[in-house]
Amino acid sequence: MAKTIRIQDVAKHVGEKVTIQGWLYSHTDKGKLQFLQVRDGTGFIQCVVFKKEVSPEVFEVATSLTQESSVTVTGTVREDMRAPGLPGGYEIGVSNLQVLQLAQDYPIQPKEHGIEFLMDNRHLWIRSQQQWAVLRVRATVIRAIREWLDDNGFVNMDTPILTPAACEGTTTLFETDYFGEPAFLAQSGQLYNEADIYAFGRVYCFGAEKSKTRRHLTEFWMVEPEAAFCDLDGLMEIEEQFVSHIVQTCLRERAQELALLERDTGHLEKVTPPFPRISYDEALEMLAQIREQTHDEELRSQLAIEWGDDFGSPHETELTKRFDKPVFVYGYPTRAKAFYMEPWPDRPEVSKSVDLLAAEGYGEITGGSERISDPDLLLQRLDEWELPREAFEWYIDLRQYGSVPHSGFGLGVERTVTWICGIDHLRETIPFPRMLKRVYP
Ligand code: 4AD
Ligand code: MG
Repeated sequence: MAKTIRIQDVAKHVGEKVTIQGWLYSHTDKGKLQFLQVRDGTGFIQCVVFKKEVSPEVFEVATSLTQESSVTVTGTVREDMRAPGLPGGYEIGVSNLQVLQLAQDYPIQPKEHGIEFLMDNRHLWIRSQQQWAVLRVRATVIRAIREWLDDNGFVNMDTPILTPAACEGTTTLFETDYFGEPAFLAQSGQLYNEADIYAFGRVYCFGAEKSKTRRHLTEFWMVEPEAAFCDLDGLMEIEEQFVSHIVQTCLRERAQELALLERDTGHLEKVTPPFPRISYDEALEMLAQIREQTHDEELRSQLAIEWGDDFGSPHETELTKRFDKPVFVYGYPTRAKAFYMEPWPDRPEVSKSVDLLAAEGYGEITGGSERISDPDLLLQRLDEWELPREAFEWYIDLRQYGSVPHSGFGLGVERTVTWICGIDHLRETIPFPRMLKRVYP
């Protein structure tokens, strides 16, 4: 009896007779030789059916196999440098082949398809090599996130999906009916994390957040670490360790997938602490300088920015070009950010906020801040932002019983995966994206 193995483990079975269970990815007919690329979810391997080595029935089956037919293949593992696959360099000399179902007219062919067509067929598209590679990187990013946080004293706390009040502002909220009362789909677990740190010191929540937005995903995944006794500098130290761990784990464990995606990993290798830090004011000076030096009129107008504005993607792209690592931009104008951010000492128009911008034009991957710890200042802010005090009573309470400096941030999973994979579109980094015009499949 041949042992059933997974393709990812093939290197351990050279010379052995094995069985793999999977699907036909592609098929090359060379007469007496049938080359079958088979995938099983863990990898892709070339299976060679040689007419002289199998029964006439098996050879007949091999010749008629269609794309995405489900199969079990038995044969001997051989090392062969030329064999394509993931991991490449191995092939199976087939002795037996069974078909579970012969697939008919698979819609995704090895040719160019339009993006709308592919998105309509997302349930099938995820089987394609590139998509498979991106989503494997995503799984590793998520594992690395949990691993680092769990190993560094952050306790995982789940926060509610339905909430009575807005955290970041009201314009991008999905409203729903909660037994006759209005409720909202959460965009952040942060405020609840701030309660949790007073019980556990350091916590994180990790979940799918909803945002009624035109430009980005309406459903995205975010991890939000929060720490007591932590100021803005402490926060940046946590972030650079954390992000470096995620990137280095992917380089180590997903090298094959990144190679398949033709990712130039040189940039990623440099992602180690410390990261450069510049203030918002310094960033504005840099942008002004870039505008002065450029002869590109369009770029000059795109980079126009007034003190007080948040950055757009052209600003982020130009800024990050000047650094060979992700860069922290801290000290954004108070008014450009959320109500809960601690002001800069003696400069209330500036907040102790920080965004981490990834290089190569990928832009913001984390956003965070030190939080207001003084109850009176918090009350003042709620009024200035015209937020109802009643909804925030419990949140104000946290500042009454042992308030301490504390900080936290959110890291977007899809943006991180887009950057690590070096791809163009956020929508390919989540199995079933939700966007303005897409809730199917
Ligand atoms: O900067 P944001 O909006 O920060 C917060 O929500 C804070 N409450 C986080 C905190 O301090 N606990 O979001 C943080 C990150 C962004 O940098 C981005 O990576 C991601 O979450 N993100 C999105 N990703 C995809 N689609 C969207 N609509 C996103 N909104 C935020
Ligand atoms: Mg942000």
